[in-house]
Amino acid sequence: MDAFVIRGGRALKGRVKVRGAKNAVLPIMAASLLSDGVCVIENVPILRDIVTMSKVLEHLGVKVHDVGTGTITIDGSGLNDHIAPYELVRTMRASVLVMGPLLARLGKAKVALPGGCAIGTRPIDIHLKGIELLGAKVKMGRGYVQVSSRKLAGAEICFDYPSVGATENVMMASVLTKGTTIIENAAREPEVQDLAEFLRSLGAKIEGEGTSRITIEGVTSLGSTTHRVIPDRIEAGTYLAAGIITKGRVTVDAIIEEHLRPILSKMEEAGAHFEYHGPSITVSVPDGLRPVDIRTMPYPGFPTDMQAQFMALMTITPGTSSIKEAVFENRFMQVAELNRMGADIRIDTNTAIVNGVKQLSGAEVMASDLRASAALVLAGLVAHGETKVSRIYHIDRGYDEIERRLKTLGADIRRISE
Ligand code: UD1
Repeated sequence: MDAFVIRGGRALKGRVKVRGAKNAVLPIMAASLLSDGVCVIENVPILRDIVTMSKVLEHLGVKVHDVGTGTITIDGSGLNDHIAPYELVRTMRASVLVMGPLLARLGKAKVALPGGCAIGTRPIDIHLKGIELLGAKVKMGRGYVQVSSRKLAGAEICFDYPSVGATENVMMASVLTKGTTIIENAAREPEVQDLAEFLRSLGAKIEGEGTSRITIEGVTSLGSTTHRVIPDRIEAGTYLAAGIITKGRVTVDAIIEEHLRPILSKMEEAGAHFEYHGPSITVSVPDGLRPVDIRTMPYPGFPTDMQAQFMALMTITPGTSSIKEAVFENRFMQVAELNRMGADIRIDTNTAIVNGVKQLSGAEVMASDLRASAALVLAGLVAHGETKVSRIYHIDRGYDEIERRLKTLGADIRRISE
């Protein structure tokens, strides 16, 4: 297994270009099952999760070309299976996103239940409720969920919670469904908007993405397309956080500022200063950091996927900051490891209270999930001495060449094999 060895204390300086958004590419790859044409997807990050989704699609009979490059091509003409097996689904929860497209195209899908994972139980009840309202039968058993329907029909669906995955699954299930489907209390995340854009480029009729009411008018078939994926707002936020925590000056290129707003406004409140030049943004910290209080929320609230990285910043911010995690249960895995590096963080149910310390000290720490691992790397960049972050396969799920890119910013970080 690989680990990162980081010597902290260098102010990061320079520029880094953000890659395509993992959480946009994964549903788009699943959505390409809806078409028997050819989908060319550009600006794809090189990540383990993308390889996993390719394996899921190939298992279903679909050809995925050029995985491991920035542009992948998916040819949906060979689709011949409706089962997403446990070996594949268990490594990546986003595999459940093939359910909607398989149901729409083949009239049935059998998908392994993702089960518990490191950041809470993460059920799929909202996905299933939506799919049932479209007229599908849902059956559970032996660790699998089976959905089937002879004929789906458009419906009005009101979600109990604006789940990102459920919005995507129901949107995909309904693009080929006769009639009009309305999703109320839909997720508004930029990645949901990008999926709608992709589906529209294939010929789907969708309106209202980015608001909490999405309307889908069913069409009979979809064609082929070339689509460029939006930049990854969480990756951009993580590099900005690296600039802030090291009191450096980092420019992140190829961003969409609007998507980053909820993150930038909290960073500004914490003392960061931004300069904007078109799709680039430069961060510096002219007057030191100030404590802030954060509550994670669905978009356009502060994203749960930036919570751990922000906590790393708070560990060395004078005064007391707090983070309330209101999206996922049990998403504070980074806390014990940050405390091993000298941080002073206490958890009170779903709120973390962070008392800033003068200095973190390097330690051997273990990555436990994707964003928690990013927080440990950030802490390592500023800690005194050497930090070893083990189990970094978690970080490879979501950050494309993070160590090479941090090195170009001046960080002392290397990957070792243990
Ligand atoms: C997506 C992102 C993930 C991000 C999350 C919230 C992808 C591949 N992953 O995950 O990085 O952290 O959005 O922004 O895009 N829930 C239910 N029942 C359901 C569905 C969800 O109770 O049927 C709960 C979940 O357990 C969680 C909350 O709703 O507590 C949010 O989940 P959801 O928005 O669905 O996140 P994902 O789509 O899984």
